[in-house]
Amino acid sequence: MAGASAQPAWAQALAAVGLLVASRAALRLALWLYAAFLRPAKPLRHRYGAWAVVTGPTDGIGRALAFELAAAGLGLVLVGRSPDKLAAVSKEVRARHPGAGVRTFVLDFAADGLAANVAALAESIRDLDVGVLINNAGHCYPYARYFHEVDEALTRNLIRLNVEALTRMTHAVLPGMVQRKRGAVVNIGSAAATILPSDPLYAVYAATKAYVDQFSRSLYVEYRNKGIDVQCQAPWYVATKMASIRQASLFAPSPETYARAAVRYIGYEPRCTPYWAHALVWFLFTVVPEPIADRYVLGVSLGIRDKGRAKDARKKAM
Ligand SMILES: NC(=O)c1ccc[n+]([C@@H]2O[C@H](COP(=O)([O-])OP(=O)(O)OC[C@H]3O[C@@H](n4cnc5c(N)ncnc54)[C@H](OP(=O)(O)O)[C@@H]3O)[C@@H](O)[C@H]2O)c1
Repeated sequence: MAGASAQPAWAQALAAVGLLVASRAALRLALWLYAAFLRPAKPLRHRYGAWAVVTGPTDGIGRALAFELAAAGLGLVLVGRSPDKLAAVSKEVRARHPGAGVRTFVLDFAADGLAANVAALAESIRDLDVGVLINNAGHCYPYARYFHEVDEALTRNLIRLNVEALTRMTHAVLPGMVQRKRGAVVNIGSAAATILPSDPLYAVYAATKAYVDQFSRSLYVEYRNKGIDVQCQAPWYVATKMASIRQASLFAPSPETYARAAVRYIGYEPRCTPYWAHALVWFLFTVVPEPIADRYVLGVSLGIRDKGRAKDARKKAM
């Protein structure tokens, strides 16, 4: 009787594989829940050093990150292109965090002479124990467009800010970290490259962010045994000027909400999307077949292009 009720070998093998897959999924879910909601932030100042250099701290994600880092007890070197906006942010940081060290450095990453400008910045921070570098300043298309509609200036600025400036800033700050045997480099990438299988009508932007992703991943392996944690954070939408989103929502959080999650991830996974709802989007894109994802993203981009062109036409007509 026992022999008659036994499952055939193939069914037992299938059940074992199913159990393995389910256990792996459950473990990954548990680890993600822990990382997203329970895992403590690293003690940044103690672990990495007293100062954080933040590029693009005058708006959006960079500005919110600057406040979070000041709240974590780090001094700030704010690197931006507008002296007035830099002065306003540093005044507000000092008001909210009395005693916080704040230095500013005016640097337009899109301007000619980038190598010399970054060298001057490196010289100005040579005396500081820089523990954290946040490469946040970035450039995107004003709105979606076909590649043949992307002009020379836009291409140049995308590559200068998203690739060249980030590379030069990292190259400038790393030697001090290597010497001190500690540091964290956070490069702000994008879902455009890390989460989406393609980002049609934003091809150059997505490609520059793919550079950020692989550059960071490789540096992570290169420097982890030197005490330096390199990380690429890949946000989905955040309600900022660049994303042209005014109202924060569940899937497009405010820069402040994003920055709180972002700081809690510093020093952990080399490639991550720190805000929990963005991680859900990432998961969805891993299960949706690529042709379906491609078609969906193309549809969204075409809608953005239509709106952008209509706005341009209205401006021209005025
Ligand atoms: N928002 C999103 O949905 C989203 C999604 C994925 C990835 N990201 C990435 O997140 C990063 C920050 O984006 P964001 O949305 O916070 O943008 P944002 O609100 O437009 O802020 C960009 C910051 O970069 C600065 N910046 C721009 N051009 C510069 C230049 N030529 N030289 C120096 N600084 C310059 C801006 O300075 P001003 O204040 O002077 O303009 C501002 O401080 C970018 O790397 C972006 O690609 C954003």
